[in-house]
Amino acid sequence: MRFHDKVVLVTGSGSGIGRAVALGFAREGATVVAAGRRREPLDQTVKLIEAEDGRATALTVDVTSSADVAALVADIVRLHGRLDVAVNNAGVFSMGQVADIGEDDWARTIDVNLTGVMLSMKHEIAAMRQGGGGVIVNVSSQVGTHLRIPGLGAYAASKAAVTALSRTAAREYIREGIRINVVSPGPHDTPMSSRPGETRADRDERIKQQLPIGRVGTLDEITATVLWLSSDEAGFAVGHDLVVDGGSTA
Ligand SMILES: NC(=O)c1ccc[n+]([C@@H]2O[C@H](COP(=O)([O-])OP(=O)(O)OC[C@H]3O[C@@H](n4cnc5c(N)ncnc54)[C@H](OP(=O)(O)O)[C@@H]3O)[C@@H](O)[C@H]2O)c1
Repeated sequence: MRFHDKVVLVTGSGSGIGRAVALGFAREGATVVAAGRRREPLDQTVKLIEAEDGRATALTVDVTSSADVAALVADIVRLHGRLDVAVNNAGVFSMGQVADIGEDDWARTIDVNLTGVMLSMKHEIAAMRQGGGGVIVNVSSQVGTHLRIPGLGAYAASKAAVTALSRTAAREYIREGIRINVVSPGPHDTPMSSRPGETRADRDERIKQQLPIGRVGTLDEITATVLWLSSDEAGFAVGHDLVVDGGSTA
């Protein structure tokens, strides 16, 4: 129960990695705030947590809106008194070689993946300062600073910038008791790791060929990584970018 009585925000927790991470925190005693744009999947996450006797609230937010994120953090403090841990996981994927990247796709990818993390940190840090400290984990990707894959330029650029921004913030706020780190996953078992038109079986076959470990990461594995980085056990990890990618970048 590493997060007993902690108030934990997970953005993008209506699906995939975010939902698994939200469940993981709740299983270890946290009061979880599940946030994302669509209400229905967030309510589902809350139901799953409550079915295991955990505590969770669903709050909608568009992380590209500063006013939305400010309201989310204010609601968390009003409802729960403070914010102890934030996992900035909301993200979108896009594909296209550089000369072919749609400008709308570019803007959306940068807005959600980078500006979303910046705005989230901005408002979370303000609340954590008032509460005397906290922990932030930002979800980047192996293709941010660690690996180049043709066709993923916009996504890679957005995620590389997440790492740069997070590591800068880590140095800026650690003396105020706010510990900031990054996790950079390789392909994990959510629809985001499939290419357009690919079935789950096609994806598994492609990954079997491509990744040294021969499989995608499980949601339990990425959850364990995020929870460890968020816990006191990782107290000396500051500005770290933890790659969990089955050996792709080894
Ligand atoms: N799966 C992988 O293989 C993999 C690998 C490396 C990195 N990642 C990263 O891991 C994170 C989670 O990915 P996933 O695979 O779990 O994908 P996912 O299931 O699509 O989850 C992304 C979540 O972000 C939310 N979201 C998107 N835009 C948002 C916005 N503007 N404001 C608030 N929430 C927003 C979505 O919910 P709404 O649409 O309801 O808002 C969704 O729940 C992403 O940052 C992704 O880049 C994933």
